[in-house]
Amino acid sequence: MTRGQQISAEVRAALRSVPREGFLPAELRPFAAEDRPLPIGHGQTNSQPTTVAHMLTLLDAQPGERILDVGCGSGWTTGLLGHLVGRTGTVRGVELIDELIDPARRSLALLSQGWVSVEAAAAGVLGLPEHAPFDKILVSAQAHRLPAPLLEQLAAPGRMVVPVSERMMVVDRDGAGHDTVRRLGTYSFVPLIWQG
Ligand SMILES: C[S@@+](CC[C@H](N)C(=O)[O-])C[C@H]1O[C@@H](n2cnc3c(N)ncnc32)[C@H](O)[C@@H]1O
Repeated sequence: MTRGQQISAEVRAALRSVPREGFLPAELRPFAAEDRPLPIGHGQTNSQPTTVAHMLTLLDAQPGERILDVGCGSGWTTGLLGHLVGRTGTVRGVELIDELIDPARRSLALLSQGWVSVEAAAAGVLGLPEHAPFDKILVSAQAHRLPAPLLEQLAAPGRMVVPVSERMMVVDRDGAGHDTVRRLGTYSFVPLIWQG
């Protein structure tokens, strides 16, 4: 997707229902409407709203799906995904920086989405292999190549949206397990910390 392309009606509704303000440090809430990443501490950011909207439109999360949100940071994308899949789905956020997890959980608790959770990344483990497979995987940090451990956690059929070397990549897996990879527009992200 290029920046000129449409944002889905479902994603627009999710953005109205899960406002960014609730996932920002108090002193940054006045800037929530600005279309830029905002710092959430520990060198990390709450992502730029148009980028989040584009990624969620590409992911196309559907009611009832099982979603993995890698690099859930502030928890905003996790809550948006929770809205998109609804109470028949599940969303599991995973975050590497321990100090970000409690604030994300507190922000998410206000949404009362019992089907959404946030977990700490285990040392040396990418994603949440113990909960795989996932119908959709969103990655909000930039890898240097397609992350094999996350491909292993993707269901068939399934879809993963992940920035790789400044390009947005969409991996579509069909029911037989065959992957098609699309390489889309240019984006800038914090790095995905991963040894692979
Ligand atoms: C752009 S930030 C947060 C995006 C988040 N979706 C939001 O809008 O607040 C990306 C996050 O990825 C996390 N991260 C980087 N490598 C990771 C890894 N291997 N596992 C889990 N999280 C990781 C960073 O700590 C950071 O919080």
